[in-house]
Amino acid sequence: MQQAWLERDLAQCGFCQPGQIMAAVALLKRTARPTDADIDGIESVCRCGTYSRIREAIEKAAAEISTATPKITP
Ligand code: FES
Repeated sequence: MQQAWLERDLAQCGFCQPGQIMAAVALLKRTARPTDADIDGIESVCRCGTYSRIREAIEKAAAEISTATPKITP
């Protein structure tokens, strides 16, 4: 999730971002492929207006996590 945040250059002032990331991770633990309504439901107030990039980052992270192959260690 943090990588998706970085790729979208999300942090502006940074005040809300830790909470946004934690909420996004919790959402993906509950719902592997969240809908727009799911994402809207977790967004905290961001005075810098990063909502569209937050949505993009969550969707990217969800897609990458769903296609990731789990590592199997012997
Ligand atoms: S990045 Fe500034 S309040 Fe969200």
